[in-house]
Amino acid sequence: MFRTHNCGELRISDVGKAVTLSGWVQRVRDKGGMVWIDLRDRYGITQLVFEEGKTQAELLESAKKLGREFVIQVTGNVLERYAKNDKIPTGAIEVMVEDLKVLNASKVPPFLIEDDTDGGDDLRMKYRYLDLRRNPVRSALQLRHVMLQKTRQYLDSQSFLEVETPVLIKSTPEGARDFVVPSRMNPGEFYALPQSPQTFKQLLMVSGFDKYFQIVKCFRDEDLRADRQPEFTQIDCEMSFVEQDDILTTFEGLVKHLFKEVKGIEIGDLPRMDYADAMRLYGSDKPDIRFGMQFVELNDVAKGKGFNVFDSAELVVGINAKGAAEYTRKQLDALTDYVKRPQVGAKGLVYVKYNLDGTLKSSVDKFYSEEDLKGWAKKMEAVPGDLLLVLSGDTDATRSALNVLRLYMGDELDLRNPDEFKLLWVINFPLLEWDEETKRYHAMHHPFTSPQKSDIPLLDAEPGKVRANAYDMVINGVEVGGGSIRIHDKPTQELMFRHLGFTEEEAKAQFGFLMEAFEYGAPPHGGIAFGFDRLCSLFGGSDSIRDYIAFPKNNSGRDVMIDSPSPISDEQLDELAIRLK
Ligand code: AMO
Repeated sequence: MFRTHNCGELRISDVGKAVTLSGWVQRVRDKGGMVWIDLRDRYGITQLVFEEGKTQAELLESAKKLGREFVIQVTGNVLERYAKNDKIPTGAIEVMVEDLKVLNASKVPPFLIEDDTDGGDDLRMKYRYLDLRRNPVRSALQLRHVMLQKTRQYLDSQSFLEVETPVLIKSTPEGARDFVVPSRMNPGEFYALPQSPQTFKQLLMVSGFDKYFQIVKCFRDEDLRADRQPEFTQIDCEMSFVEQDDILTTFEGLVKHLFKEVKGIEIGDLPRMDYADAMRLYGSDKPDIRFGMQFVELNDVAKGKGFNVFDSAELVVGINAKGAAEYTRKQLDALTDYVKRPQVGAKGLVYVKYNLDGTLKSSVDKFYSEEDLKGWAKKMEAVPGDLLLVLSGDTDATRSALNVLRLYMGDELDLRNPDEFKLLWVINFPLLEWDEETKRYHAMHHPFTSPQKSDIPLLDAEPGKVRANAYDMVINGVEVGGGSIRIHDKPTQELMFRHLGFTEEEAKAQFGFLMEAFEYGAPPHGGIAFGFDRLCSLFGGSDSIRDYIAFPKNNSGRDVMIDSPSPISDEQLDELAIRLK
């Protein structure tokens, strides 16, 4: 037997017991006549002790030779410690060792296996299996495990069936590029890895499965960021005979269950915000509503005073950074530089300081009297001590830049507490989105999303105005999930493909199977998918989903541990009929 107990288990009530433990050597403290070893496993740390006079000389010598991360097995007696450590659960006891076996030696690890490590990102990723021995990384994966169990528990209790769908499929239209896999048996042909199981879950509805879910890997070849991985996990769900409200209620239930069970937090009913309002008030379809600082449009008070920048702008809009009037010239210049970076794209920044003495000072005093500025302040509900930040230009670009500035100020003013959770649904998304590059409309969600019935007549004349039965769940400014009510009849699906610029042949070649299925009794249906990694990182209080994935890819999409992607041999290329000639 390798162990009678694990390393996190022994307490004062175990004193006097003979025990056997196995684990990794975290640390050796050699004081000559006495040696202490911290023995670690997944469950915790237990202190081992070897003492001259009490321990056999040979055993004491072996203990001194142990190195960090050796795997050992010890047998001994549990003693009460003189100097207790109340920081760890086993801190009241130690084990006086009588037998020691080295199960495996270890090279000196390339970085410290401690909570605070000296290893940089690249090194830790190369030796991810060592990184995973560290408490913070392990507990992130433990959190993920608990979230998985609780998700399954809830969905099972609501009669959802977990069904697995294939991984070698054909392109799915989620808007990113596909990862493709060549087929040896069908030379010159390729599978695509699913960007999501979208079409399969809809087919399952046609099959009568009614309530489906799957915790499933999805693959998207897109540019990576902290909250994006090329392979990631969704909680993918679909339901039949439902309206939007049924879906929102069911999945509000899922997140409430997760918050309660995993974090002990009761989440109230989620507010619902129109996409149009989200864009107008926050410049984003995923507003962080932990703090206010809503946009205030100033066209009526800021235009017509001779300031050409504002006069020629489509939109003049500002935010009120409460209590920030004391910002120095240097800080304001830094803010201006920040919004002028190409990633943010503003042309400049106008500020108004509402000083504590009640005076107003702006960067555009030449054009606006104190009375004018008071008018702005009133509109923005500003009081002495506040700082008004104003941008102008084309509506969409200006809102998008002000969104970045709002989030930046939210961070600066400590208004984005990771332990506070503010959830909402964003609803009534547009169905279509104009793509400047290809000069045509694209489905904003995906081509299977149903338009709102009342808006269908607008499809020809004003396609951009048609709203979809689509919704996103947003937590603390992160889009954690999205879905829609689907089209479930062939004529509407054909109409949709036509509007997306598919010829009849193209639509048939790509999605003929789905349209055919719609002719065999497809029920009304809809669904949603949550980004599971994002949900875990929010619950864990981190910005990066990588911490919640056991073996993630880096920002260039590489797994540096196994060194992938990598070239394959000429023989393989030939076999797959894809050799570059
Ligand atoms: P969507 O494309 O919105 O919808 O994806 C659903 C959720 O998945 C998460 N997500 C990602 N997480 C990590 N890395 C990525 N690269 C990544 N891409 C997306 C997001 C997102 O909200 N089939 C539809 C769902 C449906 O209509 O039912 C779909 O996939 O949190």
